[in-house]
Amino acid sequence: MNIIGLSGSLSAPSRTRALVAAVLGEISRQTGHGGPLIDLADIAADLGRTLGSFVLPPAIEAAHGQLRAADLIVIGVPVYKASYPGAFKHFLDLLDPKVLEGKSAILMATGGSDQHALILEHQLRALTSYLGIYSAPKTLFARDTDFSDYRLASPAIAERVALVAGQARRLLRTPAAHGLAEAA
Ligand SMILES: Cc1cc2nc3c(=O)[nH]c(=O)nc-3n(C[C@H](O)[C@H](O)[C@H](O)COP(=O)(O)O)c2cc1C
Repeated sequence: MNIIGLSGSLSAPSRTRALVAAVLGEISRQTGHGGPLIDLADIAADLGRTLGSFVLPPAIEAAHGQLRAADLIVIGVPVYKASYPGAFKHFLDLLDPKVLEGKSAILMATGGSDQHALILEHQLRALTSYLGIYSAPKTLFARDTDFSDYRLASPAIAERVALVAGQARRLLRTPAAHGLAEAA
């Protein structure tokens, strides 16, 4: 079972990365299956100088390979100008559109306010659906004020992390890890 996180933030440190890591950790707690995290901040410079997909820099090729091998992708993006970052879209544009077909995903975003939370529904879900990815029905949106020093600091968001991790478990058809109730 391959689970992978994808943080679409170009910042380091990053709230988006922290959110993706928190959900990966909770999925591991609930299912016993962990996974690595692709951080676009690590390959942003390569992305910026790559115009076509004929010969990709090794770091981008490696990240694409991790996505190709995944069963479930935990996707987190920051809102930049009422959308996901252009570099995140470019990372996916460099990938054959068919290779993510049939995979599952959890969709998440971070933003300065709730004003653009619906990018999850009308932009990120539209993009992942185009790629043939089955996204979980409940998404997760966290504001900057839900973090302290780039760590989650909101009980309400912690609850939501548990909820989306439960959805991941269902998408993966994995029984609850020993000691966890079979809930939501
Ligand atoms: C270039 C840029 C544009 C942004 N535009 C928006 C926006 O339109 N709406 C919003 O709610 N937040 C916006 N933000 C705030 C970020 O979404 C927010 O601070 C997010 O938590 C950043 O995640 P990070 O820590 O992973 O970089 C913007 C931030 C940047 C850097």
